[in-house]
Amino acid sequence: MSVDLRPITRANFRDVIRLEVLPEQSTFVASNAVSIAETYLRPEAEPRAVYADDELVGFVLLDPGGRPGEPELVRLMIDHRFQGRGLGRRALEAAVDHAGREYAAQSVRLTFVPSNERARALYLSAGFEETGEVEYGETVMVRKLRS
Ligand SMILES: CC(C)(COP(=O)(O)OP(=O)(O)OC[C@H]1O[C@@H](n2cnc3c(N)ncnc32)[C@H](O)[C@@H]1OP(=O)(O)O)[C@@H](O)C(=O)NCCC(=O)NCCS
Repeated sequence: MSVDLRPITRANFRDVIRLEVLPEQSTFVASNAVSIAETYLRPEAEPRAVYADDELVGFVLLDPGGRPGEPELVRLMIDHRFQGRGLGRRALEAAVDHAGREYAAQSVRLTFVPSNERARALYLSAGFEETGEVEYGETVMVRKLRS
């Protein structure tokens, strides 16, 4: 199965903003409509739809970030209907690859709500490490790509 990231367009916009996480996950991630609206304030950010074999399954938001060479994965979500099939992991890898390629990143940064154990397990197993920082109450993790 191939997982890839595609721009938000007129053709997929409505479907992207209809993607949803489980009710108990709603405090972990902003809605996709809010994330896309945020790109009005961060024009350099890149919202992307996650496709698995041409089926829309999720959403990511990447931002070049305030630290040179360290872009931020601002959002990652897989619609509740498609969770638990390895797609979150594949989308994360696709986002990290994109960051390495498009921003010549040395590392990738992200934050998550500390009670989000599923996200923590995913990020740890994908090579992210806690920096010890807390930003707006969220745990900060970084993955080094090259030294
Ligand atoms: C976090 C999220 C992106 C993971 O996507 P997913 O497609 O469900 O995850 P995957 O199937 O790729 O599994 C990745 C890892 O997550 C963890 N995981 C998956 N399902 C889990 C579950 N039911 N309980 C605990 N951990 C789980 C495991 O570590 C798993 O790795 P492994 O099974 O390969 O060992 C998805 O659950 C999601 O969108 N959650 C709500 C939004 C959110 O929390 N986003 C992250 C904000 S920082």
